[in-house]
Amino acid sequence: MKKLGIIGGSGLYDIEGFDFVQEVPVQTKYGEPSDSYRVFEYKGVSFYFLNRHGRKHSIPPHKVNYKANIAGFKELGINHIISITATGGINSSYKPGDIIIPDDGIDMTSGRKGTYFDGGLIHHIDITEPFCPIMRGVLENAAASADEDVFTSGTYICTNGPRLETGAEIKAFDRWGADLVGMTLFPECVLARESELCYVNMSLITNYAAGTTDSKLTTDEVVAEMSKSMERLKNIISMIPVYYTENRVCECKNALKGTKISKND
Ligand code: HPA
Repeated sequence: MKKLGIIGGSGLYDIEGFDFVQEVPVQTKYGEPSDSYRVFEYKGVSFYFLNRHGRKHSIPPHKVNYKANIAGFKELGINHIISITATGGINSSYKPGDIIIPDDGIDMTSGRKGTYFDGGLIHHIDITEPFCPIMRGVLENAAASADEDVFTSGTYICTNGPRLETGAEIKAFDRWGADLVGMTLFPECVLARESELCYVNMSLITNYAAGTTDSKLTTDEVVAEMSKSMERLKNIISMIPVYYTENRVCECKNALKGTKISKND
């Protein structure tokens, strides 16, 4: 059976028609992932769901063990990961409830453990295009089949959190060309690329970014929008088996080719 990894939140645990198979705890040399991997089968695909923030949402974005999470997928033999994130909308065409399949990203995080190559073996990977183009196509097709309107491009800027942004930060990010802001894309996408996995993101706009409206931002609003739109995200996910194959015609599987600079092996 084809395998596919999904990193997201707890609301994704009860997709109608998906059969729960098992829960797999994984230990990695980078420590424990945020949670065990929960396996569901649907239309010939084994979906491995991982809760990025832990089952009780107790791990803040800057403390997620991204290295263990990605290494866990790799240990389970998974080559393709879909990351689901809640984000604030910077682009004035976006409104809460919109779904974006970004095509680029900006990393504003700091102090996170963001590479597998932090001593001895050193690679400088190319991340010009942070998302697998084939997987972006799979999501686009799945969304179209599910009759869900989505934006098929956009630049995700990743802040360190857990605080939200100042109005001036969002204004600056807007001038840089960022369209949506969240706290978890980096270093997740980088670690996936370093692991030669295919990685794609699907973001839900849960709120207008700081300073783009008069209202105070609340987590309640983010959570409410997430649960309101969960059905639509699930509709898209349930169309994925129609388009998803494990064939890897993209370059993600060769991400390390020609990138090693250290002399040792
Ligand atoms: N900023 C950063 N992260 C977020 C936001 C936001 O406005 N909304 C949801 N996650």
